[in-house]
Amino acid sequence: MAGIVGGGGGGGVGKESVVTIVWDSGRQRFASQDGQAYLEYKLKPPPPAVSSAVALPVNNGKQVMDVLHTFVPASKRGLGLASKLCIAAFTHARDHNMLVLPTCSYVSDTFIPRHPEWNGLVVPESFNPKL
Ligand code: COA
Repeated sequence: MAGIVGGGGGGGVGKESVVTIVWDSGRQRFASQDGQAYLEYKLKPPPPAVSSAVALPVNNGKQVMDVLHTFVPASKRGLGLASKLCIAAFTHARDHNMLVLPTCSYVSDTFIPRHPEWNGLVVPESFNPKL
């Protein structure tokens, strides 16, 4: 399944551009319409429930979207395109009751610190203690 999941302007003054983000569920990626910029993820099933009356299941039993890699062609960097890909991925995770594991350093070191509104979706153990 594939679909258009977001678009709009971005960046700062003088950087406005319209970008449409497409979701390709088969390849597990969000991408620009030309496919040159993309965010790759892998879905991880929720871990098996712990048979204890008090212990909460790991990750609240939620499926995890492991964001493996983000790529933007050199000619289009610095315009917020990777940020738009992340917003599409986080929005998808929120709408599907998933958590996000930021394996990609752009997500962990740049996107999440700049977008704390998404903190609630991040796998708690994955927060970078250096930040
Ligand atoms: N890790 C963390 N942050 C990074 C980064 C990386 N590897 N590469 C660039 N950034 C930061 C930059 O410092 C920049 O900060 P600035 O705004 O203060 O200049 C910021 O990302 C730019 O954000 P944005 O415009 O949303 O990103 P982008 O569209 O330019 O794309 C990448 C960013 C990382 C996707 C792009 O540089 C790229 O494809 N690099 C090669 C592949 C890569 O290293 N991917 C990340 C690891 S999986």
